[in-house]
Amino acid sequence: MNFIARLRAVCALWLTGVAAVIGPAAAADYPLRQVTVIVPFAPGGPTDTVARIISAQMAKSLGQKVAIENVVGAGGTLAASLASRAAADGYTLIAGHMGTHAAAVPLYPGLSYHPARDFAPVALLAGTPIVIVARKDFPPQNLEEFAAYVRANTERLNVAHAGVGSVSYVSCLVLHRQLGVKPTGVPFGGMGPAMAALIAGEVDYMCDQIVNAVPHINSGKIKAYAIAMPTRSPSLPNVPTTAEAGLPGFQARAWIAMFAPKGTPPSLVALLNAAASRALDDRAVRDTLQALGAVIPAPEQRTPQALADLVASEIDRLTPLLWQAANATGGHDQPWK
Ligand code: MLT
Repeated sequence: MNFIARLRAVCALWLTGVAAVIGPAAAADYPLRQVTVIVPFAPGGPTDTVARIISAQMAKSLGQKVAIENVVGAGGTLAASLASRAAADGYTLIAGHMGTHAAAVPLYPGLSYHPARDFAPVALLAGTPIVIVARKDFPPQNLEEFAAYVRANTERLNVAHAGVGSVSYVSCLVLHRQLGVKPTGVPFGGMGPAMAALIAGEVDYMCDQIVNAVPHINSGKIKAYAIAMPTRSPSLPNVPTTAEAGLPGFQARAWIAMFAPKGTPPSLVALLNAAASRALDDRAVRDTLQALGAVIPAPEQRTPQALADLVASEIDRLTPLLWQAANATGGHDQPWK
């Protein structure tokens, strides 16, 4: 071995040693201060609800406060853009979802981050089936009547959503494509305020994640037409599936997950993943989430790699679907603003 080759070998050995030390050392000291989880929508909505329940439990195992910061705008993409550029030190995380980390790709051609490339996936937190809900005095009595009513009154109807690319936006975009209608979209900073408007009768209907809708359906403040899943939810036993109610083609599911900025040391990602997974195994956390209709991921679905695979497959699934739907309904700028 000549001198250069020997020098290269020594450098490679040294770098391997440094890398081995940096990982465990970062994890050993972490967290020294508060961890912040950015929620890309207003307080009180589905992302906020799931993030708060799980973060409170993670705080116990991390031994530090885990604060929620709601950053609202552009269907959640404003917050995701900020989170993608945050320091990769484990102190800033984001509760992203099917919208910010998949649907935004086809719907925002100038998106300033890439969900698959600019984040270190931490863990899938919950599956959130979609429910079609309406103000309680909306005239249709069932899903078939709903479809006929929406077709007959499209111009007069207001549909709430949480901005272009949000789950509520995407889900109703697909529903409207199937019904062949283009009602007016009313954007909110999140489905928390959208739900308040629905309860007040200020908007007509919306496609919402189950965790936001269950308490209000069960208390009779709003009505539900169907859950867009193959089976009913135990938390809404009287709400039919879309197949049972006559619209089998409309299936819509969403998910909420935790991400760190790209470059976060793998040892910290592993530590955060373990804390999130422990939270999902906690009996009280499980009971609370399941009562709201959330689907708790199985252990093999909670790994960082499983979340990376989910993001990639969701971008592949949603890109052609949303291009078709946006084109069929006249593009997402008109009238879906
Ligand atoms: C929210 O938390 O407000 C929702 O997840 C918004 C949405 O994507 O519909």
